[in-house]
Amino acid sequence: MEQLKQKAGEEAAKRVVNGQRIGLGTGSTVRYFLKALGRRLAEGDLSDIVGVPTSERTETLARSLHIPLTTLEEAPMLDLCVDGADEVDPQLNLIKGLGGALLREKIVASASRFFIVIVDRAKLVKKLGEDCPVPVEILPFGWNITAEQIKVIGGKPVLRTINGSPYKTDQGNHILDCHFGAIGNPRELGRQLDSFPGALGHGLFLGSANEVIIGTPDGVDVLKR
Ligand code: A5P
Repeated sequence: MEQLKQKAGEEAAKRVVNGQRIGLGTGSTVRYFLKALGRRLAEGDLSDIVGVPTSERTETLARSLHIPLTTLEEAPMLDLCVDGADEVDPQLNLIKGLGGALLREKIVASASRFFIVIVDRAKLVKKLGEDCPVPVEILPFGWNITAEQIKVIGGKPVLRTINGSPYKTDQGNHILDCHFGAIGNPRELGRQLDSFPGALGHGLFLGSANEVIIGTPDGVDVLKR
């Protein structure tokens, strides 16, 4: 699997051209993308790019690789965003956020003209929700009320914990991993989750990916919208 992630990440790094402003996703597949990007910069094969990281983890790694960084305030329109995903359906809809960075990831993807998703083939599903829950970032205040609201629409929310304490996002919020099983109508579910006041963002990324690069044992497959 690591090799498949590496192939997808390295292929995405080849797509970057001089002068681009790039959203830098989060996760183990993105690590390969960042490393390849750092290599191209160090070798002088690429110049004048700048990245907006989607998490503190990505910011730290990008800095260590000498990838120039900026913010959305400085660069509100990005040329490209490259990020991983937890599930990809045949329409290129995604579940993201098992790594906890979904809210910043969604904002950065929405500010980008082109969104490339990098995955290994294990992430491909017929229907979203088959294998993984939908992460929902929630305000700690009244989190149990948000959890009850999610139960009413058929979800089974589980408060994400780390070492016995609630997981904290980079914004200091919590995450509910919400199990729905295979999701028949992702758009309707997305609308319902968006309607809960304590739900700050969810991991359904619908209609935003332009291209999915899939690492395979023979190289990469590319799905386009
Ligand atoms: C981070 O919040 C997530 O959205 C990741 O992009 C997603 O979980 C994919 O991560 P991996 O590449 O580590 O599987």
